[in-house]
Amino acid sequence: MRLAIASDHGGFQLKGQLLAKLREAGHEVEDLGTHSAESTDYPDYAHTLARGVADGTWPRGILVCGTGVGMAIAANRHAGVRAVNCSDTYTARLSREHNDSNVLTVGERVLGPGLAWDVVSAWLEGTFEGGERHTRRVSKIEPR
Ligand code: RB5
Repeated sequence: MRLAIASDHGGFQLKGQLLAKLREAGHEVEDLGTHSAESTDYPDYAHTLARGVADGTWPRGILVCGTGVGMAIAANRHAGVRAVNCSDTYTARLSREHNDSNVLTVGERVLGPGLAWDVVSAWLEGTFEGGERHTRRVSKIEPR
């Protein structure tokens, strides 16, 4: 799958670990930074990635910060972006099947690399179920 990934300093280490695993698994991943452990502002990275998901540059994206919370809040300010902050595989999978989430956020200070990878894998493998009821509900998410 084609993906973008980004983090702030709080997610820098986990981003590198996930990026390596994603590429090893055959995904085509663009790394939007940050590129060092120096302090940065998470919205800068969330907005860059979310803009690209919203305009179709990347079908899906992964954001990593300390908790995943700030990244999700910022990414969800973009129309068409459905970002979910997940710490378990069930929520990650269901966010795809029922909510058609297109951005996953995870927290380096919350998850170890093993569980983070399981969460990412569950999210990548999850497929939107579609159908009238889920499609109707997802279409109602955007403010009118
Ligand atoms: C940075 O200290 C931290 O606030 C950030 O990585 C993230 O957890 C924000 O939600």
